[in-house]
Amino acid sequence: MTVTLDGKALKEKLLQQLKVKVDGFDKKPGLSVILVGDNPASILYVNNKKKTAEKLGIHSEIIHYDIDTPQEVIINKINELNNNDNVNAILVQLPLPPHIDKFKIIDAINPQKDVDGFTFYNSGKLFSGEEPFVYPCTPKGILLLLKEYNITLEGKHVVIVGRSNIAGKPLAMMMLNNNATVTLCHSYTKNLEQITKTADILISATGHDIIKKGMVKKGSVVIDVGIFKDENGKTRGDVDFSDVYPDISYISPVPGGVGPMTIISLMLNTVELYEKSLNNK
Ligand code: GUN
Repeated sequence: MTVTLDGKALKEKLLQQLKVKVDGFDKKPGLSVILVGDNPASILYVNNKKKTAEKLGIHSEIIHYDIDTPQEVIINKINELNNNDNVNAILVQLPLPPHIDKFKIIDAINPQKDVDGFTFYNSGKLFSGEEPFVYPCTPKGILLLLKEYNITLEGKHVVIVGRSNIAGKPLAMMMLNNNATVTLCHSYTKNLEQITKTADILISATGHDIIKKGMVKKGSVVIDVGIFKDENGKTRGDVDFSDVYPDISYISPVPGGVGPMTIISLMLNTVELYEKSLNNK
């Protein structure tokens, strides 16, 4: 029997637990989200983040800039947020327009307010097997989802398809730090299906429909991070769900799998940074 990993249900459960904690705080945690341009997917994501934060009693604001805003304006805003005691967590929604150096922007964030864990300080800590202030949201959400279903990592062969800084690369580090054997595949990988077929846990994060029947090992776990619209406008993931479903033991759906887990991880990270800021006082 194949089990569908219900990210939506786990998000709701964790939200309720987190709400109890936030209700007990004297002061509200603060999350600031910077959005540059009008990418429809980004607008949808940042609005979802704000809605969830408000449900929890986290104060959240979206700072929206025109697509042609100069880099310095955004860096000045980040400096202002770094110095604002009411802001515990800063997120710059990616992708950024091409005239902006995303690494300069990300690294302007104080690592103690870096809710994505994307600054060089936090990613360096993760790469070294040390604790960053917080872990990147999508990988963190995937690990929480696997844990909820008692899927262990130690000694497992985890194959990740996609090497983005948002998902694939930090996920590979987190899996390694949890004693998995990790193979990181990408668009130049040869004989992809020979590799994916050896995965105990296959995680695809490409935004393309690449995982099909015959590419998965019998009884394995499949995690789908991709989300996009197909030619008929239907939301789908990297994995051909119905094709692979009968062969495997667990699968995360799209929508309702990794997406909600990314959002709840952002909320957990915001609260973690808030609590750490109290300890620093
Ligand atoms: N764009 C897509 N996913 C993410 C994310 O997790 N963080 C940020 N900052 N931008 C994103």
